[in-house]
Amino acid sequence: MSDMIDKMNIALSWELRASNMYAHYAANIKGIHRLQLSPMFNTEMTESIQHADIVRKAIVQLGGIPVTERNPHPITHTNHYLEMLNYSLETEIKAAEVYAELIELIEDSAEEDLRDAIEQIYLSELRSVEEMRLLVG
Ligand SMILES: [Fe+2]
Repeated sequence: MSDMIDKMNIALSWELRASNMYAHYAANIKGIHRLQLSPMFNTEMTESIQHADIVRKAIVQLGGIPVTERNPHPITHTNHYLEMLNYSLETEIKAAEVYAELIELIEDSAEEDLRDAIEQIYLSELRSVEEMRLLVG
């Protein structure tokens, strides 16, 4: 159980970092790409906040203490849209990895609702990975 909570806290820390990073890129994107990428980064930001909320509440329900600090992996400032997309891709790949590991830990537990919720998040991370891959080109 504590392995599971630890892994959920790692997922939460990455979500906190992701919402921060996407907000930063949504604000900083300039030029013609701003038109499409600013709303996209905002959507990803909202998604990260929602994922964080689900994971945070699940940690509390399991008797754990959710982290409040984001993952320390640096958020790199850039004005280049392609670099933003590459950092976004990196983030989504990492998130998908963490949720895949989490699902393995949950598999043995009797927490069916939790497993469903985490699987939903995992699938949404995979969709984001594919979307970023297409955008990076
Ligand atoms: Fe997420």
